[in-house]
Parts: sequence; C-alpha cells; structure tokens
Amino acid sequence: MNAIEIVNLTKNYGKICALNNMSLDVPEGTIYGLVGPNGAGKTTLIKALVGSLRPNSGFTKVLGLDPLKDKWKLRKQIGYMPQSPALYDDLSARNNILFYGKGHDVPDLQRKVDDILSFAELTSRADDAVRTFSGGMKKRVSFCCSLIHNPKIIFLDEPTAAVDPHLKMQMWILFRKLAQSGVTIFVSTHQMDEAMLCDKVTILRNGEILAVDTPQNILQRGKSKLKIIVNNEEKTAVIDSTAENLADALKKFGLEKNISSVELHADNIEDIILSIMNEKVKEVKS
Ligand SMILES: Nc1ncnc2c1ncn2[C@@H]1O[C@H](COP(=O)(O)OP(=O)(O)OP(=O)(O)O)[C@@H](O)[C@H]1O
Ligand SMILES: [Mg+2]
Repeated sequence: MNAIEIVNLTKNYGKICALNNMSLDVPEGTIYGLVGPNGAGKTTLIKALVGSLRPNSGFTKVLGLDPLKDKWKLRKQIGYMPQSPALYDDLSARNNILFYGKGHDVPDLQRKVDDILSFAELTSRADDAVRTFSGGMKKRVSFCCSLIHNPKIIFLDEPTAAVDPHLKMQMWILFRKLAQSGVTIFVSTHQMDEAMLCDKVTILRNGEILAVDTPQNILQRGKSKLKIIVNNEEKTAVIDSTAENLADALKKFGLEKNISSVELHADNIEDIILSIMNEKVKEVKS
C-alpha cells in the first residue's frame, strides 16, 4: 500500500512555481530521499504533505487521508521535523518534547522522553533551556519531538543539517529500524552519503521531478574515467561504471606488459545527481 500519493500537484507563490504538476507514490515502510538544489521545492512539497499549505491544483493523500481536510486525524499519525526547528526557546529540551507528547496523549510519556533524550545524547542537557543550545542540539530536540508519538510516517526536512557525523549515523540506523517496522520516512537532504542510504531517491529541480530511482540504479548511470600510461604516453577513456566495462576498456589497450599504471575515477552519487540536473538544464536551454 502507498503511504503517500501525490497527483499532479502544483503550488505557485505568485510568479514562482514551487511545485510543477508533480506526481509520486511512496510505498509504506520505505525511506524516500528528496534531493535537489536550494529552491527546488523540497520544503514546499513536505509542507503540502503535512497540510501546512494549500496547493493550487492537484491533490495528495497521506495514509489515505487528505492533509488539509483530515488535518487533525492525520496529525496523530505523522511526525514532522521542519527545516528550522519550531521549539519553545524558554522551555527545556525535556519540556519541549513533553509538550509535543502530551498533545498526542502518548502513554508512558516520561519514560519515552527519557529514552529519546538518551538516544539523541541530550540527557545531560535535558533540563537546560533550548535557547542555550547549539544549532545541532536544537535540531536533535526537534527530531525527538517529531518521533515521540510513534508516527506511521515521518517527514524530515534536512534533519541532519548541522548534526555531527556520529549522531547523523545513529539517526540513519534508527530510520532503517523504523522502516523495517513499517514506518515510512520521507526525508530531504543535501548530503549525498545520505541519499545512498535511502530505498529510493527523488531528484527535484525547479518544482519538477527529474528522476526517482534506487541509489544503486542512480550509480549505474555514472561513468568512470580511465587513465592509462603506456610507454610514458597518457591515454584516457570514459566508460560505464561497471567492472565488465572496465575489463572491456582495458582489452582495447591490449593489457600490454608495459602498461605501468591504471587509474580509475568512478563517478560517485553526487557527480551523477549533479549531471542529471545539468542535463535537464541543458535540455531546457536548447
Ligand atoms: N512563502 C513563500 N513565499 C514566496 N516564495 C516562496 C515561499 N516559500 C518558498 N518559496 C519559493 O518556492 C521555491 C521553492 O522553495 P522551497 O523552500 O520549497 O525549496 P527547497 O528545495 O526546500 O530549498 P532549500 O534546499 O533551500 O531548503 C523557491 O523559489 C522559494 O523562493
Ligand atoms: Mg527547504
């Protein structure tokens, strides 16, 4: 079953088209990554899905519900971590999370708050006012708030921006565990190592979807640059990023005994995603 359905969704801000006739299905229990440059429409799309903005046309269904008409019903079942933390600065980390938890009537709330504070490595600062926290620490409190009521879908808008690498990895381990238990994770990011950890990556630009694919398939679209030095002469070739192609490419060079060096630079997911975006820009210009 699809956790999220997006059908011909369009959102304009005056002359700016933030989402342009977008359609996408997200199956339950998957981790969907949303990547794209600044202004691509990631936040706008997430806001449309959590019912915090009204699209101009098209519709979305989240857990079979309309995010605007069924806002209150849906709110209990979804978690949302906005791009900028929406916290009460004068409340402590603990009280911010308790506040969200009470709003959702979470059973056994005190224990759950302790557990999640411990997960986010905030126990020693749990009773300090959030205004005294660093940027990354505020993101962690916001993350705790989005999870405290065990939602079925979690919308995370750049959750790990400003979070240190150790905790970022812990968060991704938790995302995978949650997905295995059936929770759907819809997460925007600018970090390509995170795109590799998703089940599917949606590449957005100018409010349009350029590609939706597994990270492995996206990697297959890459190229490798082969540099060979034969008798002190440099030869180069561009090949597809697969081992068989490497062997074929080398055969063309004869695999001579006087080949003294073979260097291979394979595109990483960041190179490929950038080239998908650039291809589309060229198409638009030509
Ligand atoms: N409230 C608003 N009023 C007018 N324009 C807006 C508003 N919110 C977003 N936009 C415009 O809509 C487009 C998409 O913005 P959005 O915030 O969705 O991008 P994003 O992909 O989340 O970017 P970032 O990576 O910087 O967070 C941009 O051109 C932006 O200027
Ligand atoms: Mg954004």
